[in-house]
Amino acid sequence: MFKKQYNYYLNLVEEYLKSIPFEEDLICSSMKYSLNGGGKRLRPVLALACVELVGGEPTDFVREAVALELIHTYSLIHDDLPSMDNADYRRGQLANHKMFGEAIAVLTGDALLTMAFEFLSQPLSIPAERQLWVIREVALAAGHKGMVGGQVLDTFNNREINTVTEIDGIHNLKTGALLVAAARSGAILGGGTAKEIEKITRYATDIGLAFQIRDDILDIIGDSAILGKPNRSDEKLNKKTYPYLLGLEGANSRLQEIITSAKEAIQVFGAKAAFLESLADFIAERKN
Ligand code: IPE
Ligand code: IPE
Ligand code: MG
Ligand code: MG
Ligand code: MG
Repeated sequence: MFKKQYNYYLNLVEEYLKSIPFEEDLICSSMKYSLNGGGKRLRPVLALACVELVGGEPTDFVREAVALELIHTYSLIHDDLPSMDNADYRRGQLANHKMFGEAIAVLTGDALLTMAFEFLSQPLSIPAERQLWVIREVALAAGHKGMVGGQVLDTFNNREINTVTEIDGIHNLKTGALLVAAARSGAILGGGTAKEIEKITRYATDIGLAFQIRDDILDIIGDSAILGKPNRSDEKLNKKTYPYLLGLEGANSRLQEIITSAKEAIQVFGAKAAFLESLADFIAERKN
């Protein structure tokens, strides 16, 4: 049931990605390369699920959901650069800069980020103020008060991090902000009420954190062939992760606590919340 619904949203996203009219030049080849397969497409899937949860029609907002994947993909390209995490593989293939060189990798990130806002600002048949609200939410979540701000902290302040609260702060920004924006965008586009949007925000804040805790755990216990990216890289980069602070067992129990809290946040939706509940478990148990 869960898998079927995930694949339904996933197919909408993959079909849309395939239909983007990329040209054959260098920058388009590079954009296409990094967008190609291998990703879980979690952010657009979450957005579409939230559209549906509040009674909207997911097929009406696939382009907007894909915009979130464009931003996420840009963030991965830049995250892998030698000046950041210096990772050679991503999504089971060479990292963008290993394939196209650093200059094109930087520019590809820039191009994907910009294209996301082109997608978000195309005409829609919902009230303009809702659409503008989404554009603003995504801009804030991606920028220096969100994902970029988190990446700055993760890159430069990580050695001074000693408490779970501090690490929560970084992870809420670098990973949580875009996941929260995805969920909220779906709920806003789908016509959700303020109360519905608030519950969905609480859920997404939890799963944003849970997602990064699992990422940190997988960096230690995961298989790089399955991950599609290098493992054991946090240790090499001296990142203070959840397992570093709490041990693997401690990180796992914190993960479970947060998953429980995420599910509680959406209880008001009753049976309709089943997909998002299973998505929370999927995030905690994923192998890549
Ligand atoms: C990896 O994101 C980077 C983090 C935010 C932890 P994903 O695990 O969602 O990567 P893909 O999109 O599936 O490749
Ligand atoms: C990256 O976190 C978060 C982003 C905003 C891209 P990580 O550096 O832990 O992600 P991976 O492990 O390289 O995918
Ligand atoms: Mg990183
Ligand atoms: Mg990284
Ligand atoms: Mg990681």
